[in-house]
Amino acid sequence: MQISHLALHNFRCYRQIDLDLPPGVSIFVGPNASGKTSLLEAVLVLATSKSPRTTRDRELVYWTASWGSISGQFRGMDTSSPSIRIVLRGAVSGDEQDLPSVLNGAKHIEVNGVRCDSVTELVGQAPAVLFSPDDLQLVKAGPAVRRRFLNTALAQLMPRYLDDLLRYRRALRQRNELLKQMQAGRAMGSDLAPWTSQLVETGSRISGDRQNFIAALGEDAGQLHTTLSDHSEQLTLQYDSVLAGIDDPDEKAEVFREELERSHEQELHRGITVIGPHRDEMAVAIDGYAARQFASQGQQRTAALSLKLAEAQVMQKRRGEPPILLLDDCLSELDAARAAKMVELAGQFEQILITSAGSSSVLRESNYGAWYEITDGRIRPQ
Ligand SMILES: Nc1ncnc2c1ncn2[C@@H]1O[C@H](COP(=O)(O)OP(=O)(O)OP(=O)(O)O)[C@@H](O)[C@H]1O
Ligand SMILES: [Mg+2]
Repeated sequence: MQISHLALHNFRCYRQIDLDLPPGVSIFVGPNASGKTSLLEAVLVLATSKSPRTTRDRELVYWTASWGSISGQFRGMDTSSPSIRIVLRGAVSGDEQDLPSVLNGAKHIEVNGVRCDSVTELVGQAPAVLFSPDDLQLVKAGPAVRRRFLNTALAQLMPRYLDDLLRYRRALRQRNELLKQMQAGRAMGSDLAPWTSQLVETGSRISGDRQNFIAALGEDAGQLHTTLSDHSEQLTLQYDSVLAGIDDPDEKAEVFREELERSHEQELHRGITVIGPHRDEMAVAIDGYAARQFASQGQQRTAALSLKLAEAQVMQKRRGEPPILLLDDCLSELDAARAAKMVELAGQFEQILITSAGSSSVLRESNYGAWYEITDGRIRPQ
C-alpha cells in the first residue's frame, strides 16, 4: 500500500498542506517541534482511526480551530485504491454553521466518499506501521502496551478481529457492572449469562488470533533481532494467557467458560472479571531472560524495532501487500551499524516515510529517497 497524496487542514500545527508522495523512501528533515511526528501521526490516523499519542481526538485539531481534517489518497497493488477522509471536531467550539455539514458527532470517517458507521469499515483499508521512539515502551512497559500493539496489528490484518474486540469490551463492561451490582445484592447470577456467553464467544476467537499472530511474529522478530544484533542475541516471544496453548477453537471456548466458572467466587468478591484476554500478555525474552527486567536500553530498543518490523512483515505475508512504513526519528538512538541495518531492512517495503531531526549520516550515506524540509508546519521538497 502507498499513500500518493496527503492533505491536512488544521491538523496539529498544520494549517493547510497538500503533499504528493512518491513510492519508495521519503525523508522529512526538520528541527524539534517542526511537525515531523504530527505528519506521520496523520497517516496513522487514516490507517487506524486513532492517534498513537492521544485518546482525545480533539487534541489533534489546531489549537484555535473548531474542526480539522485529514485526507489521503492511497494506491494499492490490485484494484483497491481507497481515498480516506477524516473530519475531527476541535476543542474550541466555533459557530455550528462553520462546521462541515458531515460532522454531526465528534468524528466523521469517509472511505471512497461513503460515510463509515463503524471504525471496522475503515481499519485495514490502508494499513500502516509506525516506528517511534516511544516503541521502547513495547518492551519496557506493562502488558497493556503489548496488548494494544497486538490489537492495532490484528485489527489492520482482519476486520473480524476488531469487531470481536469491540464486542468483547462491551460484554466485559456489562459483566463487570453486573458483578458490582451482584455484590450489592441488586442483580442475580442469571443476569450474567448472556454477557458470559458473548465474552466466551468473542474472547476465545481473540485468543486464537493472538496465539497465531504471536507465533508468526515470534519467528520473524527472532530472525530480525538476530540480524540487527549481528547474530549476538536471540529474541523469543511467548503468549501468556489462561487460554494459551489450545489450538482447537471449540476447546478454547470450553476452557474459557470453565475458567470463568472456577474464578466466579473471586470475581464476585472483587466485582470484576478476573480472567480472559483482557489479561493476556506477550512475554518478550532476550537469550531466555525477560527483556522487560533484564535487557539493556539498546537491547530493548533493538527488540522493539524487531517487533515492529516483524509486524510489517507478517502483514505483508498475510495480506499479500506491504503496509506503509512510518519511521519517526528512530534511527538517531541506534548505533551506526544497527541504524544502517535498519535502513537496509526497511528498504524491502514499498513506501517508507522517515523523519529525522538532524540529517542523519546513515540516511545521507544511503543516498536514496526524496528529501523534504519541515519548518513550522510547512513542508518543502529539497
Ligand atoms: N493541536 C495542536 N495545535 C497546534 N499545534 C500543536 C497541536 N498539538 C501539538 N502542536 C505543536 O505542534 C508542533 C509540532 O509537534 P511535533 O510533535 O509534530 O514536532 P516534531 O517535529 O516531531 O518534534 P520533535 O523533533 O521534538 O519530535 C509542536 O510545537 C507542538 O507543540
Ligand atoms: Mg517528533
